[in-house]
Amino acid sequence: MTFKKMILGVVAAATTLTLAACGGATSSETDLVDTITEKGKIVVAMNPEFAPFEFETLVDGKNTIVGSDVELAQAIADELGVDLELSPMSFDNVLGSLQSGKADIAISGISATAERAKVYDFSDAYYTANNVVIVQEGAAGNLTSVDSFAGKSIAVQKGSVQEAVAKEQLPDAKIVSLTSNGNMIAELVAGKVDAVILEEPIAKGYIANNAGITLSTLELDSSETDAYAVALPKENEKLLEAVNKVVKELVDSGQYDQYVQEAYDLSTGETE
Ligand code: ARG
Repeated sequence: MTFKKMILGVVAAATTLTLAACGGATSSETDLVDTITEKGKIVVAMNPEFAPFEFETLVDGKNTIVGSDVELAQAIADELGVDLELSPMSFDNVLGSLQSGKADIAISGISATAERAKVYDFSDAYYTANNVVIVQEGAAGNLTSVDSFAGKSIAVQKGSVQEAVAKEQLPDAKIVSLTSNGNMIAELVAGKVDAVILEEPIAKGYIANNAGITLSTLELDSSETDAYAVALPKENEKLLEAVNKVVKELVDSGQYDQYVQEAYDLSTGETE
């Protein structure tokens, strides 16, 4: 092989590589919505320990994940004309599952914070909730101010915005991050922690279902707590548009709030 031929060969190989790379770039422009349609199903990540938004209950004797976020997920699947597959996991894995490709979207009462928005896209907001503090009934009279929580142990869900809320707003308390909301409440009932921070609808459900716990009168600042939104991997404009269309329909019609109320009644055994 002459030197010239060799050079030509290298150039040809490089060209092939470049073309291959371009091919890759083109296929990465494929919107997730196309992949979902091809698969015939959308996989939705959630942590189903968050009634009334997502929780497990017996339906016809079978453990089933239900809640207002499940209704939202189903409406998105219907809009795309595909089946819905729920992928239950701990909350600190929910967002990461979008990066690993384990799930297509995440719906889990996720607050659309600026920090998270650097990594994920969010739909328009569909629900706003305030942070509250749950304490034992017997201690409620003494736990009413920021100072009264100094040295007290406060449970928050691992990976949730409530971790930051607790650290910032109750700086002298001892923060305990736990994976399971149910365990946080069990620890409070057993007196192993002094308080739990959750958003109000979830807190109210736990109070309705557990004797001896109540809301502290201490009001946390929720002004910087972001509303719930659907999380997606970045750069899937078509999918984001479809999700926003569904969110808008359910929110504008009041249907989403109705789902929340129905799920709350179901989770607390209350009838209308
Ligand atoms: N809204 C809070 C956050 O985004 C808590 C969400 C917890 N959701 C759940 N399904 N456990 O951090």
